[in-house]
Amino acid sequence: MKRLLVLAAAVTGLWANAQGYPGSKPIAIVVPYAAGGPTDRVARDLAAALRKTLPGGHFVIENVNGAGGTIGATKVAKANPDGHTLLLWHIGMASTVSLYRKLQFKPLDDFEYLGIVNDVPMTLIGKPQLPATNYRDFENYIRANGGKLNIAHAGLGSASHLCGLMWQSAVNAKEAMTTIPFGGTAPAMTALVAGQVDVLCDQTTNTTAQIESGRVKAFAVTTAGRLASPPLLKDYPSLQEVGLKGFSLTIWHGLYAPKGTPAPVLKQLNEALKRALKNPEFIRKQEALGALVVTDSRMEPAGHKAFVAAEIAKFKPLIEAAGKFAD
Ligand code: MLT
Repeated sequence: MKRLLVLAAAVTGLWANAQGYPGSKPIAIVVPYAAGGPTDRVARDLAAALRKTLPGGHFVIENVNGAGGTIGATKVAKANPDGHTLLLWHIGMASTVSLYRKLQFKPLDDFEYLGIVNDVPMTLIGKPQLPATNYRDFENYIRANGGKLNIAHAGLGSASHLCGLMWQSAVNAKEAMTTIPFGGTAPAMTALVAGQVDVLCDQTTNTTAQIESGRVKAFAVTTAGRLASPPLLKDYPSLQEVGLKGFSLTIWHGLYAPKGTPAPVLKQLNEALKRALKNPEFIRKQEALGALVVTDSRMEPAGHKAFVAAEIAKFKPLIEAAGKFAD
């Protein structure tokens, strides 16, 4: 009886909290990578849109980088489920489970799913000093020199890591490039521009401006076909087009809350998110960098979760097959 009363009090407390949500306490969106990178950029633009669609919501960004995004994700999985700690994460939610022997969270059990935000193509780029000027020469150069070169990424299971391992596996050069992990692709990009690392595969939202300014060389896009926008990227071939049969990689970002967040809070957040995804300024900013804001059933929690479950199943065999390139 006493336990029932305690439970009832706790449930009542949660509902009472939900009624006052968001209140004056900030809502932290945890970005599991360094500030200034592509995930951080999506989070900051999304927070600006959410401030309009969740009146009173005081959204702040918290960068918790390391271990391919799993440190930030663990922090959110273990956070107080009161709607004041959220996670914006990408395909890492689906890839890390196949890459880490021990994760401190279960992707499908430890989070409430709030909706997918966008789909983002990736681009294969190199430091400006690389001798190649087109994809064919680039691949030949990597085949001949792979063992002496390195490829940067944002940690095991990050989008850049997944892209690099899928691409190296498809090319299957005799020697793998050495992988150099960073806390995000913002610092990885800085190292690439400075010529300290050789290759990076990163989200168009981080690469477009660098390609445009000539600070890096671009060789291909990772989508099944060429991109229709932005204009700059239309000229680059897809990896399928240059002979890597079946290669197709588009990453996505989703918003999560810790498991146990009260249903009324989740409803408020999902509704605010759906309105934010219709914000013309947010859509414009994303499209200018090659990302597409979602308009389909993945905006709903059930659609988001079913999509992530399918992505986990899709990438598991690819990651396992990539074996020697997976470190
Ligand atoms: C990644 O490679 O996972 C991302 O680009 C990381 C980031 O947003 O910095």
